[in-house]
Amino acid sequence: MRYLILSDIHANHEALRAVLAHVKRKRWDRALVLGDVVGYGADPNQAVDLVRALKPVVAIRGNHDKVCSGIEDGEMFNRVALQAAMWTREKLTPSNLRWLRSLPEGPVVVDGAFAVAHGTPIDEDAYIFGEIEALNVFRQTAFPLCFFGHSHFPVIFGLSPDAIQTVLTTSPSFRLRLQPGVRYLVNPGSIGQPRDGNPLASFGMFDSETRTVSIHRLPYRIERAQQKILGAGLPRPLADRLALGR
Ligand SMILES: [Fe+2]
Repeated sequence: MRYLILSDIHANHEALRAVLAHVKRKRWDRALVLGDVVGYGADPNQAVDLVRALKPVVAIRGNHDKVCSGIEDGEMFNRVALQAAMWTREKLTPSNLRWLRSLPEGPVVVDGAFAVAHGTPIDEDAYIFGEIEALNVFRQTAFPLCFFGHSHFPVIFGLSPDAIQTVLTTSPSFRLRLQPGVRYLVNPGSIGQPRDGNPLASFGMFDSETRTVSIHRLPYRIERAQQKILGAGLPRPLADRLALGR
């Protein structure tokens, strides 16, 4: 089975469209969505429509999906994120609001083989930035493999019986064959708002037969996405950061 893994789209229609156009030429069987389909970007309905059309086998909610759909009030959000979330809540169609509200909380086990989570499989709103957080998650869970998002930073943590290892991915593409006896936490990066200093859209693929994870970076029409953000009256830093990948 080949899985297409999409995370942190953040209402960036241009970035999502570029990814979907690219993977049209690839073979994949099932789509997985790790949350934050909306929030920050200017095209929440277009992003949700494209995701729904993919008929993902699993789509879980992210913190922005919760606030934008009114499940949470966003008291933990900074001013810019909250302003964008309130704008998004007004723009979403009733059908897309219902769809976002219906997304389950992670972790969700996929095909009995691996898990997906937004922030961590312990707390959907918590971050895994480095080995300390990853080790904590490995210790408190038993998943042999878990894909996660939320930090917008593509990275792989591996836990062998001896040590924890951080694998930094390379752009524009990276491939890793999973080793037997090693547990993994994999972040495929963010499609709509990368924060690793690389503005290219980031997404993942997982081939469960060859046990291979790949992470890919793609250029997209960043200026167009920025113009839409500014045209919608959303805060300028949301546009600026797209070109910086921060
Ligand atoms: Fe996010």
